[in-house]
Amino acid sequence: MHVVILTGGGDCPGLNAVIRAVTRRCMGDYGWLVSGVRDGWRGLMENEVSPLSLARVSGILPTGGTILGTSRTNPFSMPGGPEKILHTVKEEGIDAIVAIGGEDTLGVALRLHQEFGVHVVGVPKTIDNDLCGTDYTFRFDTAVHVATEAIDRLHTTAESHNRAMVVEVMGRHAGWIAVMSGIAGGADVILIPEFPMTMEDMCELVQQRADRGKRFSIIVVSEGAKLAWRSGRAETVVSSEAVDSFGHARLGGVGTVVAQEIERLTGIEARVTILGYVQRGGSPTARDRVLATRFGVKAAEMVQAGGWGSMAALRGDDIVSCPLAEALEKPKLVPAELYEIARTFFG
Ligand code: F6P
Repeated sequence: MHVVILTGGGDCPGLNAVIRAVTRRCMGDYGWLVSGVRDGWRGLMENEVSPLSLARVSGILPTGGTILGTSRTNPFSMPGGPEKILHTVKEEGIDAIVAIGGEDTLGVALRLHQEFGVHVVGVPKTIDNDLCGTDYTFRFDTAVHVATEAIDRLHTTAESHNRAMVVEVMGRHAGWIAVMSGIAGGADVILIPEFPMTMEDMCELVQQRADRGKRFSIIVVSEGAKLAWRSGRAETVVSSEAVDSFGHARLGGVGTVVAQEIERLTGIEARVTILGYVQRGGSPTARDRVLATRFGVKAAEMVQAGGWGSMAALRGDDIVSCPLAEALEKPKLVPAELYEIARTFFG
């Protein structure tokens, strides 16, 4: 049996823990050949496949990033892309692909399985936590931890300077990081894509605090939050018009507009901190290491059982198998009840 592992999409802490777990189970326990694919689907198209060993995956459990490299390559947007993958699969005698990624990477895995019968098993990974079928993915906990620590640190400088401090965190379609870190860090306003708030309403909350004698406000905003004004004007801020091969624009910068609006509408001095890629770097939390390890072992077991077209998933405290089609049906958004809890502490 020859199993290959690939990582696609944005990198994150915990990917190496999955690679280690899949390799240990498949090679160490089942005695199979395990290889790594360079840079996600790109490496499978271009036959950049090389054997992994138990020694190669030793010591990587706590490390960030991915030893295999990653890319946002979409084979289905390239001429002959899927055929190149089929060619590599045949040439290398690949029996199964373990694809670790978010909606884009797993979307490719599902199409390869459905349209070409490729043997794929998925492991869900998204910092945005917006994949259905699993309660959480690894790396989300680490990102929330990083964002919460940043909010804690920004509190002291905000208070010293009597400022409104805007913190921009990741979250393209879903505001999970903003809501969770905002609740944990005691944010005074949280702006997320799911529940748009006008700039005027947001500023009223900031002004209310100032009127109560509070010397500062912390506003947490998801990069994908839509800005709205009472006039009906609305916009999504992008840092570049360029789109990747899955059609996603590059986000970033919404926090700067929010800070400008606070100064314009309230006269309160405001600053912005964009956490950006700091949220994706570094070592995974213990919780993410455990979850990534459990996902990796489950993925290996799914390969052994021939559970193609499915991914490992967390339900409650159990690791289960979930059809990719179910996980990718729609994004998992922040529910109203959770945002309502956060809202209790606004203003
Ligand atoms: O897909 C996860 C994510 O971290 C988003 O939150 C963010 O918008 C995007 O990746 C950034 O991607 P890139 O690494 O391509 O700039």
